[in-house]
Amino acid sequence: MKILAIESSCDDTAASLIEVQGNTFKILAEKTASQIDIHKVYGGVVPEVAARAHAEKIIPLIEEILAGQPKPDVIAVTSGPGLLTALLVGVEAAKNLSYLQGIPLVRVNHIEGHIHSVLIPQKAPMAIGAPTTVGEYQIDLEFPALCLIVSGGHTEIILMKDYGDYERIGKTADDAAGECFDKTAKLLGFDYPGGPKISKFAETGNPAAINFPRPMIKEDNYNFSFAGLKTSALYYLRDNSLAAMNIMPATFPAGVFGQSPSSNITVNDFCASFEQAIVDVLVTKTIKACKQYQPKTVILAGGVSANKRLRNTLSENVQKFDQNIRVRLPDIKYGMDNATMIALASIHHIQKQDFTPWQSLVADPNWHIGE
Ligand code: KG4
Ligand code: ZN
Repeated sequence: MKILAIESSCDDTAASLIEVQGNTFKILAEKTASQIDIHKVYGGVVPEVAARAHAEKIIPLIEEILAGQPKPDVIAVTSGPGLLTALLVGVEAAKNLSYLQGIPLVRVNHIEGHIHSVLIPQKAPMAIGAPTTVGEYQIDLEFPALCLIVSGGHTEIILMKDYGDYERIGKTADDAAGECFDKTAKLLGFDYPGGPKISKFAETGNPAAINFPRPMIKEDNYNFSFAGLKTSALYYLRDNSLAAMNIMPATFPAGVFGQSPSSNITVNDFCASFEQAIVDVLVTKTIKACKQYQPKTVILAGGVSANKRLRNTLSENVQKFDQNIRVRLPDIKYGMDNATMIALASIHHIQKQDFTPWQSLVADPNWHIGE
């Protein structure tokens, strides 16, 4: 069975073709067109601009993926959550193709997609943007699985009891972790998306230099709140000499700001301490959930899963808690939005014949799994 998947929920236009046989799959072709350069100028994703770029890219991208391939058996498309204008482009492309070629359609939740990204092994020998035919991989999650989903739009803990069986046990009350990284990075004068830049600076900083708050870390639930941490970061920059240079980047040369004359704290220390605060909260809540739910698998997924401190701290702490739990992390490139994860998440829907006629498929920006 061959599945064509389409993803356009935020600022990546992506298509993928996979072949599934029993419990294994192969990636036949995949490609992601990133819009980062377009949105950089605005300091974040502008929905209308994203939609326009998706509209320009999506048909050539699908054509490229299907070139020389047999007709797919199923089309899977992300229909939520995400930016409505962006989702609509992928959904309408999928509906058109389904109608014109008589191919059944499956709607996939973006978060469900991220969870399935861990099925693609790390260092898989193919790269997004370089269609290949190498590699046969297993569909082999063990349940229950606790999934920590951290991206620019989401911070959630989901208990996955089986394929398609989810319970959302934690979510953020305000900002997502990636959003908190990006907004703080903006204060430092870093381009969008700033998360990777903070984490790069953090590599050589002291994570204990500044004692940032760990919001909700002690609360007896699995929820998060990151807006206050972002404000603490703002106040820190404002109240220290590091601040003047960083919150008014226009008046100072962009780039690295050295260290505060009033203390020995450098911008690297700032980044490391800020990153540590986010990682501490995410990992503490996940371990707390492990105690209650005794999972066989812990999954980390979403764009922020690229963060090394988060990957390492989560793996070490889960292993310390119970070394029989398998920690599954996505390959760095598959942690970002891509269509192969959407194809993988559609498999169990297809097995259950959970198709949606093209006439009734709608984009749903607020579709949450496991509520
Ligand atoms: O999943 P994703 O590609 O798009 C959304 O669905 O949001 O996630 C993008 C987010 C951005 O906020 C970006 O700054 C963050 O992931 N991110 C990181 C790192 N790499 C990407 N945050 C912290 N450290 C990183 N290394
Ligand atoms: Zn995403």
